[in-house]
Amino acid sequence: MTETLSSLVNHQVRLAARPVGLPTAADWQFTQEPVAVPEAGGVLVKVGALSLDPAMRGWMNEGKSYIPPVGIGEVMRAGGVGVVIASGHPGFAVGDAVGGYPGVQEYWSIAAGQLARSGLAKIDLGLGRATQWLNVLGMPGMTAYFGLMDVGQPKAGETVVVSGAAGAVGQTVGQLARIKGCRVVGIAGGAAKCEWVVRELGFDACIDYKVGSVKDGLKQLCPEGVDLYFDNVGGDILDDVLARIRRRARIVICGAISQYNNTTAVQGPKNYLSLLVNRARMEGMVVFDYTERYPQAVAELAGYLGDGRMKSREDLVEGGVAAFPDTLNKLFTGANFGKLVLQIAP
Ligand SMILES: NC(=O)c1ccc[n+]([C@@H]2O[C@H](COP(=O)([O-])OP(=O)(O)OC[C@H]3O[C@@H](n4cnc5c(N)ncnc54)[C@H](OP(=O)(O)O)[C@@H]3O)[C@@H](O)[C@H]2O)c1
Repeated sequence: MTETLSSLVNHQVRLAARPVGLPTAADWQFTQEPVAVPEAGGVLVKVGALSLDPAMRGWMNEGKSYIPPVGIGEVMRAGGVGVVIASGHPGFAVGDAVGGYPGVQEYWSIAAGQLARSGLAKIDLGLGRATQWLNVLGMPGMTAYFGLMDVGQPKAGETVVVSGAAGAVGQTVGQLARIKGCRVVGIAGGAAKCEWVVRELGFDACIDYKVGSVKDGLKQLCPEGVDLYFDNVGGDILDDVLARIRRRARIVICGAISQYNNTTAVQGPKNYLSLLVNRARMEGMVVFDYTERYPQAVAELAGYLGDGRMKSREDLVEGGVAAFPDTLNKLFTGANFGKLVLQIAP
């Protein structure tokens, strides 16, 4: 068995350079090497699909953040799901479906000594399909859950606005806020995305920021103001919402994708004094702070998937690791529709 495994070739994508602006082909290096068969106590995973996340753009930058940057020459960090194909660990058996952070490669070899901090965990395909474990039951769903519930603290009857509404985090935020009895207005790019969140996901309304004025849309759709804004995009849209918040509003700073490829300084909120006038608060969150409570969120969200109160959409792209660079950039043009997932093996 070991002999067969060691004849396998592992194709990888490594970070070749730190990008300036939108990543280009020159920022990546394609490599291949024999599969590293783990020694006793280790686990070998065949990667099935990778999660492509806006955060990857930040991980490519030098500098201090909530997680160290990916080093030049290292396999690009990525979350993913797959199946165990060899195991010397009693906690994992061949055939187990698992998730974790394999990186952009076809095989993930975890030595015994690295297992505890590898993030490798079994996933229950009875609760959701593998790609849903990269979406609503995975990191984006956890972000939506803890960002909305812990930081945003929604109350029934309140008006919640969420940007990036048709994306991975946004789709779960909006549906969860509806389940909690809130009125939900999404902000998304394009008619198809807006129509989907309203017709399929049950949002009350959606503003297409690519055709109209967000300011006018908010005025019309949130006449009493906004109680809770879940911000995925930052920039001008954050300023437009700040101008319409209600007293004691909460703004969850989840992300600012409009700023990630800036070659100049990040655009900060011009309308921040609205926080003062409205006795409001704006608070950042990082999902990794909640890892110990993931099981609680998974159980609740899986319950909503099971009883049909929640839906999820994944945008599954084929092409394996070779398609990684172009697929990642879809996030920054809005070409993805739903959680962006790269299929590595069928
Ligand atoms: N804090 C945390 O722990 C944490 C964890 C996960 C994710 N996040 C953040 O959450 C946000 C959403 O992530 P996701 O994984 O759910 O991504 P996603 O929404 O599935 O995909 C990104 C979407 O952002 C929108 N977008 C791109 N450029 C934009 C721009 N200039 N202005 C407005 N919208 C733009 C596009 O949708 P449209 O077509 O609608 O423009 C695109 O589809 C990101 O900011 C990410 O960094 C934070």
